[in-house]
Amino acid sequence: MTKIAVAIDGPAAAGKSTVAKKVAEIKGYTYIDTGAMYRAFTWYCLEKGIDCQDEAACVALITKVNIELKPNHVVICNGKDVSREIREPRVSSQVSYIASYKDIRLALVELQRKMADTDSVIMDGRDIGTYVLPNADVKIFQIASVETRAVRRYEENISKGIQCTLEEIDADVRKRDYIDSHREFAPLKAAPDSVLLDTSYMTVDEVVQNVIDIIDAKIEEKEKRA
Ligand code: CDP
Repeated sequence: MTKIAVAIDGPAAAGKSTVAKKVAEIKGYTYIDTGAMYRAFTWYCLEKGIDCQDEAACVALITKVNIELKPNHVVICNGKDVSREIREPRVSSQVSYIASYKDIRLALVELQRKMADTDSVIMDGRDIGTYVLPNADVKIFQIASVETRAVRRYEENISKGIQCTLEEIDADVRKRDYIDSHREFAPLKAAPDSVLLDTSYMTVDEVVQNVIDIIDAKIEEKEKRA
């Protein structure tokens, strides 16, 4: 089988992980949720009572943390299953500070690149096409209007039993987008060779089919060249 790397980047709550999970299942690729790694580290800092805006204090903890992504989207941090906790608003509201620290990014990116070494992968995040996997075969930049994204995340949280209001989620999404796209190191931006996918008026299945069509065209091209 042709080894493939797919990068999906885009702003908060654009539906990247929903699409990436489905594409991974259909194509048999390994799905790597890089946001879950930043979230798990943020959860750990909060557990330790660290102020997430104190860069030195957060960076000092990075060597103490072992983050594992398991099948079925289970996230383990130092042996504890934190899959649910990392989605809580208290983590979402702090994660973009943590993700702006270069030393933390370097440590997590090293892990992410190792995961992509052997298997065909689909990885979603903010800097996958621009920094983590600059040679990815397929790069998608998935967007939707901020209002659509806030409603999607609100409904997702409610269905998971995570208490929140739409106003709170809307503010969180806008704040994270601002911090993520203005940070100095590996900010959120579309790679020049990425395909822009505006999903505001598309169903999940339509987006998944679009991504699969792009991947299949790439595989055909790769196999012809081989
Ligand atoms: O699911 P959602 O789009 O809300 O976010 P996520 O993918 O779980 O990522 C959470 C946060 O982690 C983002 O807002 C970024 O601050 C950070 N992140 C990042 O900086 N780089 C990545 N490759 C992935 C996530």
